Amino acid sequence: MIKKKGSIVRLDTENTTLVMKADTAEYLYYGRRLGSVADFGIFEGNPPRNMLSFPHRPDYTEPNLILCNADGGATYEFTFSRARIFAEKPELSELPSSYGESKTVEFKYVDLPTKVSLYLYYTVFEDCDVIAVSARLVNGSKKEIRVRRLMSLQLDLPGIEYDIVTFEGAWARERHKTERRIEGGVFCNESMRGSSSHQNNPFVMVKGDKGIFALNLVYSGNHKEIFACDTEGGKMRVLAGMNDYMFDWQLAPGQELQAPEAVMCFAPDEDGVSAQMHTFVSEHIVRGKWKKRERPILFNNWEGTYFNFNEEKLLSIASAAKELGAEMFVLDDGWFGKRDTDTCSLGDWYDNVEKTGGGLGRLAEKIRALGLSFGIWVEPEMISEDSDLYRAHPNFAMKIPGRTPTRMRHQLMLNLADERVQNYVVRAISDVIARSGAEYVKWDYNRSMTDCYGKGVPAGEYFHRYMLGYYRVVSRIVKKFPSVLFEGCAGGGGRLDLGNLCYFQQYWTSDCTDARERIDIQEGTSYGYPQTIMSAHVSASPNHQTMNSSPIFARFNVACGGVLGYELDASVLSEEDRKAIAEQIAFYKENRKLLQFGDQYRLRGANSAGFITVAKDKNSAIAVVNLLGWRCATPEPYIRLKGLNPAALYEVSADGKQFTASGDMLMYGDIPLAGIIKYDVARENSGCIQSRMYVIKRIKQG
Ligand code: DGJ
Repeated sequence: MIKKKGSIVRLDTENTTLVMKADTAEYLYYGRRLGSVADFGIFEGNPPRNMLSFPHRPDYTEPNLILCNADGGATYEFTFSRARIFAEKPELSELPSSYGESKTVEFKYVDLPTKVSLYLYYTVFEDCDVIAVSARLVNGSKKEIRVRRLMSLQLDLPGIEYDIVTFEGAWARERHKTERRIEGGVFCNESMRGSSSHQNNPFVMVKGDKGIFALNLVYSGNHKEIFACDTEGGKMRVLAGMNDYMFDWQLAPGQELQAPEAVMCFAPDEDGVSAQMHTFVSEHIVRGKWKKRERPILFNNWEGTYFNFNEEKLLSIASAAKELGAEMFVLDDGWFGKRDTDTCSLGDWYDNVEKTGGGLGRLAEKIRALGLSFGIWVEPEMISEDSDLYRAHPNFAMKIPGRTPTRMRHQLMLNLADERVQNYVVRAISDVIARSGAEYVKWDYNRSMTDCYGKGVPAGEYFHRYMLGYYRVVSRIVKKFPSVLFEGCAGGGGRLDLGNLCYFQQYWTSDCTDARERIDIQEGTSYGYPQTIMSAHVSASPNHQTMNSSPIFARFNVACGGVLGYELDASVLSEEDRKAIAEQIAFYKENRKLLQFGDQYRLRGANSAGFITVAKDKNSAIAVVNLLGWRCATPEPYIRLKGLNPAALYEVSADGKQFTASGDMLMYGDIPLAGIIKYDVARENSGCIQSRMYVIKRIKQG
């Protein structure tokens, strides 16, 4: 709900209230929902907590806007022009954004001497306590201006006593939760790699004594979240938006620049933040036919074969997978051009008929004849120098004339800032999907940007122009194939963000498939993203990335925290593993709706970690608890479950035993993990986690 009275604008979601003063562009209140209040004047502070800021004014901390005039000046003063309320959220031009029933307030501020206008939009998603914010700059002057920074959201918080939580890592180690206190100065969580990155996800939390403010960005390129402690002003400024690294945008008279959408929410605790973000992503970001549809159990051949396969091998994996209960076979990298290694052929999206036994169309038919649907891997934004595409169009590659480009994984990127290249990619990839009839597409992206250059594109605009080109390409392809399930991937989870989730209904969480590592990666991801988007595969043991070995049941337990798949050579499994996998798949199918679309909570203890996924009606739940390590003569820890109906009676099955307990006992009592350590399993598995699954069914109403 949005209400405006004089200059005061009040936004209410189910559990939060945000109050702003339009004429002075100030925040008066953000936090728990307020009842009716006579006068918000008591919240006015000195110095004020601002919605916007600009340099050369006595603010002296990081501004959300840096502009330069044609005359070399950089002083702007935006004065309030008007505030309007829309019943529907206006579309963001050329950028992905959230959707749904969503009242929006628009604030307009004008710099009177230049007639440059800044529009700020605040949209309310009442059901999940999220407020989406964006900024648009319009050059109403007669001269070009240069935009050096345009952040999407500025949130000034009272006091400086906050802990900043970021989700950091690296390739195969994404989104590890990192918490730190900033007691002075400026701290940035950012990416300068051209993508949202493995290293610093744009989702962040700011924890204070009132509760937690969480922010994210609907953008897949360079981003920056700034936390500036204004010790004199006694406030913490939080800015979120496109990174201003190398950013220098020429805005001609009459033109406008749209900043990506940022989203924020407030909740009393971490579980509250995650619940809101999960609903927000599921209801207002993910879209299309697969939004609410149960996701298929797929077998992907990558870790089973890498580049070394032929038709016979693929069909043997697929038929073994079918016998185990799989629903889809996904052909990963290596099916096109002459791609037997990662040194060539990106861009040559035509079938290697030898390896695929006559091409994708024929192979897909054979896979379907086995009773499986067919999925295909592509990496559309890349080009190998050893490719027909490069030989024909070397200028399609992102590289600087006269300089040797930096190669990563031996490849270059395509210059998607160029419309001709965009059209080529749309044509080539659409053709792959059409000729294979693929029901699923894995869209990979395996390097960071360097050598940013496009003819006619100023260096300061390149990163963002690439992203605009990328979104044009991906949206055109996704629109053409509305029934296809699209999974995003970037060397694992290197571009897992809200921008991409507007197109891809799920995302490959990490290239690390080791169960122990996945506990941290999936747990970190779960703070800002629901399990429905987190693709999680059981792979071979010992694991290919870490060499850890772990039992098949533990690998499955961990993968049940996301969308289950398998990534191994199903044709060479031991009898014992075959039996186990067949049982796992049957169990997963029975519980898929709950596991994929239930409410998921983290279960982290001193030496244990896991999750519980609870059905919306709280009639059933599945919990997984993993011991993260153990020492001699230390007793097993305890756990407490979450999300159940406290008054209901549940039957709980674990390790072949059953017991009954009320929801409150399970949530507020301490349940010993007796017998969870299995020495025979540990003896056979290095670096093994001890894991237990609890299957919980309500037997009596509360
Ligand atoms: C990186 C992905 O994350 C892997 O799953 C696999 O698809 C490889 N690329 C293929 O090159």
